[in-house]
Amino acid sequence: MACAFESHAYVIFGATGSLSNSKLLPALFQLHCCGYLATNVKILGCGRTPYGRADWRTSVRTLLTGAATEDNHLEDFLRRLDYLSGDLHDPAFYQTLTAWVSLSECACNLIFYLAVSPELYAPVTNGLAQAGLLNERNGWRRMVIEKPFGHDLSSANDLQQRLGRVLEERQIYRIDHYVGKQSVQNLLVLRFANMILEPLWNRHYIDHVQITHAETAGVGNRTGYYDKMGATRDMIQSHLLQVLALLAMEPPVSLDAEAVRDEKVKVLRSIRPLTLSQIHESAVRAQYAGYLAEKGVAAASRTETYAALKLHVDNWRWRDVPFYLRTGKHLKEQRWMVAIRFREPPMQLFRDADATAVHPNWLLIGIQPEDIVRLEISARVHGLETRTRPIAMDASIVTLGERKADAYEELLLEVIQGNRSLFLRYDEVQAAWAIIDPLMQAWADDRTSPPVYATGTWGPVEADRLFGQSGRKWRQTLTCNADRDWEC
Ligand code: BG6
Repeated sequence: MACAFESHAYVIFGATGSLSNSKLLPALFQLHCCGYLATNVKILGCGRTPYGRADWRTSVRTLLTGAATEDNHLEDFLRRLDYLSGDLHDPAFYQTLTAWVSLSECACNLIFYLAVSPELYAPVTNGLAQAGLLNERNGWRRMVIEKPFGHDLSSANDLQQRLGRVLEERQIYRIDHYVGKQSVQNLLVLRFANMILEPLWNRHYIDHVQITHAETAGVGNRTGYYDKMGATRDMIQSHLLQVLALLAMEPPVSLDAEAVRDEKVKVLRSIRPLTLSQIHESAVRAQYAGYLAEKGVAAASRTETYAALKLHVDNWRWRDVPFYLRTGKHLKEQRWMVAIRFREPPMQLFRDADATAVHPNWLLIGIQPEDIVRLEISARVHGLETRTRPIAMDASIVTLGERKADAYEELLLEVIQGNRSLFLRYDEVQAAWAIIDPLMQAWADDRTSPPVYATGTWGPVEADRLFGQSGRKWRQTLTCNADRDWEC
């Protein structure tokens, strides 16, 4: 007999790994504290670590101590946890899992979370399928898959085919955790709950768009993964293209998952393909100084830790408006922002007055760490001469002291509720790889070493070439300061 809707077990493969410890368990704990997990919901950790239930509980207690507002929250949460140790390639493991499921009164509905390396996606799903754990006779089955979904279009298609043999699309939740961030979700609200922006949101008023994701940290202990992927696959193919899609999409007919994803995929498919001859002027890769000396990085690795692209969305709304995307490790500041620059007025009435330049309008959207929306406009400076300066109209979204929910809290809850609008449909993944693949191929064929940039800077000077002779510049800050070079 099927369980009540809210009864389920969250089965985490890779339960003692870094994703589970840094994101999944803290997020599930918050959901528990906020009352989103029904009393009998269980969390089952699976993996190679030779733990029993008590070991895992002890380890999670250490992990979450400090996050708990009340001690009994933590102890109640720990009682939900159980652990199965085993080899995820071994069919016997899935028999043990089947036995656990049949003994567990809550586990008619099952969520499987693949927090494991991508090579294990196929073995785990096959193991589950062969053990009959994916059939929905006694309740629903949902599979959560982390990025990267493949490392190019062909491997993504291959993975999709394998999953398609044992799961239906409605059971697959492809995570891009940026889509779960509150400030990224706010892009849709900003665009479609406010009438004032819509008339301006097109090629007639917008000069260009910049999407920046800058990190101060290096690759850390993820070199094994990162050296194979690089910044473009790791960040642009997924997170940055998703943000571009949300910024550029047409209004969906509703907030229904399919309606939103239909519009996003249209944008991705409208991106002008990067041809070999354009790559030099449209894409820049670079490596931070010292990357080659990191443990686990191949001796002559050409993997980029910085990438910048100029893309065009060839549709009615955006034709000829460049979208500049950049991301990098070991940069000067931790900054994830969207900067939209508007066109200049058709006549500069105030340019001659005291030789003060009129600043273009910018709409700045801070995603992380600042969660803000700021509009920069020109205003007259008090005094007898007509002088202008940029001022900002500011809307900070999270006020000081307010807790900001982590993206994973929202995403894990959406899986429980069966809402797929924050997850990627396969055609979105496919379209994103189709944009990136020609670039990856061109860079793989290019035997020259990428330029090196000093750590703690804004990246390589070569990135400026994307602007050509347009006079545009990278926007580095969210603040405008007329006394300094506020545009940099
Ligand atoms: C991950 C990338 O998807 O996102 C990492 O693999 C990157 O390389 C991370 O550091 C950034 O996420 P966040 O949420 O910390 O900005």
